[in-house]
Amino acid sequence: MIWYPYEQMKTMRAPYEIVDAEGVYLYTREKKLIDSVSSWWSVIHGYKHPELNRALISQAEKFSHVMLGGLTHEPVKRLSQKLADWLPGDLDYTFFSDSGSVAVEVALKMALQYYMNRGETERTMILALEHAYHGDTFKTMEAGDDEDYHFVLKAYGPSRYVVHIPTEIKALEQAFEAYHGRLNCLLVEPLLQGAGGMRMYDVSFLKRARELCDRYGVLLIFDEVATGFGRTGNRFVSDLVLPDILVLGKALTGGYIGHAVTVARKRVFDGFYDEHPEHALMHGPTFMGNALACSVALKSIELFETGDYMSKIKRIEAVTRREMEGFTDPRIREIRIMGGCVCAEVTDASVLKGYQQFAFERGVFSRPFLNCLYAMVPYVIREEELVKVLDTMKAWFRV
Ligand SMILES: Cc1ncc(COP(=O)(O)O)c(C=O)c1O
Repeated sequence: MIWYPYEQMKTMRAPYEIVDAEGVYLYTREKKLIDSVSSWWSVIHGYKHPELNRALISQAEKFSHVMLGGLTHEPVKRLSQKLADWLPGDLDYTFFSDSGSVAVEVALKMALQYYMNRGETERTMILALEHAYHGDTFKTMEAGDDEDYHFVLKAYGPSRYVVHIPTEIKALEQAFEAYHGRLNCLLVEPLLQGAGGMRMYDVSFLKRARELCDRYGVLLIFDEVATGFGRTGNRFVSDLVLPDILVLGKALTGGYIGHAVTVARKRVFDGFYDEHPEHALMHGPTFMGNALACSVALKSIELFETGDYMSKIKRIEAVTRREMEGFTDPRIREIRIMGGCVCAEVTDASVLKGYQQFAFERGVFSRPFLNCLYAMVPYVIREEELVKVLDTMKAWFRV
């Protein structure tokens, strides 16, 4: 039996079975659906992309995977170099892994060990945000603040190692004042908090965070697993404020294969680079630097650059703003739009019960969560397809 994610298996509705997918469309045996979720925000170029397919096939004909322990290969070297060239500042040191959660774990391990290597053993704490989501592994859950994961709190009690604050500059300043000598990092989803409720906040918070991290010698980590590759209307939020460690996943491979990367700046890397074997970063997922993933990631980045994706995302945002302009309903608390993300937050989650099937019948795949009715569409979506997704959202409040 398949054990499905985030579901009470006893009461869950049977999932829609996908038999084919192309462009922005998912196909069941009887329905053609616009994927308004982009397979958990990753499939930015759409499905069955001929160039991504070719990149995979031609690499598979050489080899699909070799481990990075004691071996290396051209796709991983090229991807590492491409990321170093493409990402801002001296974010040049790439540690690959197989999922966003693991890549955040690696970032947290890096931050902790960076200070342990320097003998600053009191810096064991993480400063994180309320409503944060960083993955489903134990340390990422501890750093996160999502109600769905609170069973861990029940079992273990509140964490001694993580402090959560709202996205308010005053709270940030107070937290630094109180804890600065014990913090190894400030971990944030920059500008857009995804799975914690599609919450958007201002860049001034991140700018102040950068200043405080610099003043108190705390590492700033941006988890751009969801926000990276244009989702907020910025190529990376790291283009606006430079973190010390950046985490990318999801769209890294255009949503083709699970892969992620933790990228460190020189000073972080230098904190491990010396004569002491025990100062090495002790991590190594079996599939890190997978050759298929690296080949498809390289092609995905090439498409992003040559296809002027930032203009596509600006267009998605402009059309979304135009279509949602003036739309209100007493059951909607707020409509938020940023780049390629739109969210109608309803006052009560029960308002969204039945929406998925309603959208399915109208040819749209959607998956509301908490009290968020949202869309994060593939960037290749055509205007009329995007309008259909938004019309479907609006139509729900008229029935
Ligand atoms: C901000 C953020 N970090 C980490 C993750 C975890 O990534 P993965 O599901 O690949 O482990 C997610 C997944 O939604 C995410 O949104």
